Amino acid sequence: MTAELIDGKAFGASVRARVAAEVLGLRARGVTPGLAVVLVGEDPASQVYVRSKQRATAEAGMAGFEHRLPAATAEADLLALVARLNADPAVHGILVQLPLPAHLDADLVINAIDPGKDVDGFHVTNVGRLATGQDALVPCTPLGCLMLLRDRLGSLAGADAVVVGRSNIVGKPMAQLLLRDSATVTVAHSRTRDLPAVCRRADILVAAVGRPEMIRGDWIRPGATVIDVGINRVPGEGGPGRLVGDVHFASAVGVAGAITPVPGGVGPMTIACLLANTLAAAARAHGLAAPAGLTA
Ligand code: GUN
Repeated sequence: MTAELIDGKAFGASVRARVAAEVLGLRARGVTPGLAVVLVGEDPASQVYVRSKQRATAEAGMAGFEHRLPAATAEADLLALVARLNADPAVHGILVQLPLPAHLDADLVINAIDPGKDVDGFHVTNVGRLATGQDALVPCTPLGCLMLLRDRLGSLAGADAVVVGRSNIVGKPMAQLLLRDSATVTVAHSRTRDLPAVCRRADILVAAVGRPEMIRGDWIRPGATVIDVGINRVPGEGGPGRLVGDVHFASAVGVAGAITPVPGGVGPMTIACLLANTLAAAARAHGLAAPAGLTA
């Protein structure tokens, strides 16, 4: 048996097309959704992410505002920028790229963002709203994973879901979203006893540990749906290396029922969901409902 490949690139493109169509509708009412991206310092991976976010924003017909600050920026100056963006009616979404340089308190900065503009869904208000079942802006990567799972499985009710990883960005919000869709959720992590056996219980396995190819084919229940959130660059022979997920794809593909490839699986969904969140934030800022099917 060979697993069906879950094509996040194609699905992400369809989400972006739906967002672009909704943006046209908002613009006809005089509202152009705007996303501000703040990058502090020179982290090369962050620079790549920020550039692709800016490009995707423009392609969706949104306004993009980019703020690049030196690595030595004082916390007070970053907080002042966030305050200006909070007050700017042309800005509906604010994303402060992480990680921040070590002298800056990321929690303090994130919690200074207007929760209604927090398109990363990292503000404690949005985290709490998600956990209590209220309308929230939801972190983009787990939202993208949820869209892929719903598209493939329809209802998730009663499914055994195992999330490997407990980060604030992916693992914890993923668990909340699966629980809200009535899955039976286990959150596993580096201290979990007999992790392979826990993974083998899963109808839905979400891998978000950041360890290249850790999850092997014999950890997977035959027919399971496997979502690989990992993006790890491993050294290659002389070249720039290759990208691998947290799942050992070659051994998993013969066991799983469906699996996301790396690259081309979860990655493209993250940016699509960032656009969806910005659209939702812009609509709500103008007293309109967020478009159906593009939110959790
Ligand atoms: N760094 C890595 N992933 C993310 C993300 O989803 N949002 C932000 N702001 N920074 C990140």
